[in-house]
Amino acid sequence: MTTLIRKAVFPVAGLGTRFLPATKAAPKEMLPVVDKPLIQYAVEEAYEAGIRDMVFVTGRSKRAIEDHFDTAYELESELEAAGKQALLHLVRSVIPEDMNCLFVRQPRSLGLGHAVLCAEPLVGNEPFAVLLADDLMVGEPGGPGVMAQMAAAFEKQGRSLLAVQEVPQEETRRYGIVKGEDAGGPLLRIEEIIEKPAPEVAPSRMGVAGRYVLTPRIFEEIRQQPRGVGGEIQLTDAIARLMRHEAVYAYAYSGKRYDCGSKEGFLQATVELALQHPQVGAHFRDWLKTLQV
Ligand code: UTP
Repeated sequence: MTTLIRKAVFPVAGLGTRFLPATKAAPKEMLPVVDKPLIQYAVEEAYEAGIRDMVFVTGRSKRAIEDHFDTAYELESELEAAGKQALLHLVRSVIPEDMNCLFVRQPRSLGLGHAVLCAEPLVGNEPFAVLLADDLMVGEPGGPGVMAQMAAAFEKQGRSLLAVQEVPQEETRRYGIVKGEDAGGPLLRIEEIIEKPAPEVAPSRMGVAGRYVLTPRIFEEIRQQPRGVGGEIQLTDAIARLMRHEAVYAYAYSGKRYDCGSKEGFLQATVELALQHPQVGAHFRDWLKTLQV
């Protein structure tokens, strides 16, 4: 468990246009996969890594996220009065007693880099994690989650880390792409990083997934960063600037990623996690087998 990384930032202020109309009034991070909202999977992953201060960068229409990580007085007292202890425990377990939730608003959707900068007053001058909840990450069965793996790597070398995975050549336009030098095991020392390159110009097929451990110098670099692709202040561009001052590493994580910001990735996560679910998994598997696909 990490002691060096105490804070995790969850940028949840995006518009979620790929999931309209579901995201018209409800945050995409509250979409449930089986029985838990996406944001809860990400918070549990950070908690498992030993992080206790959760910083949410929210925007308009994101009230449900604040409510989810707050006490639900009416619900809890009704469940208590009805003697529904298991459900009461389930509701309360969303916020373990040693976890702190902090909220800050991003006034306009100016990009992921800008969202991370909004967290600076709550993060201060220390290394921190960033988790994009629409990337649902699942570690190997029985193994540590992705943020726990990265936190352990950070304890060893103290440099910024970006989670990476190999992506199909035709999909490079959907990712930040890195090129680098083998640094042993899952680590790659990044030499070049470029946001959403066309397949013809992508320097490699190593795509950045939504997990980062960053040193606080990143805030300074984001502040200096002009708008990039799509008129947004890109985190990737600020990381490229950070590399002029500090080494930055890619971390090829063990596990699986579901791009739940896209309909297809969301459906894949739903089916695969439903199959593994202790209550519904077995029946769901039987039912799936009856489908003519
Ligand atoms: P995405 O690129 O997935 O954008 O952002 P989005 O707006 O959420 O979704 P689409 O593409 O329109 O469907 C990556 C992450 O950065 C956050 C998002 O909430 C998401 O977790 N983000 C993005 C912000 O917090 N603020 C921004 O200005 C942009």
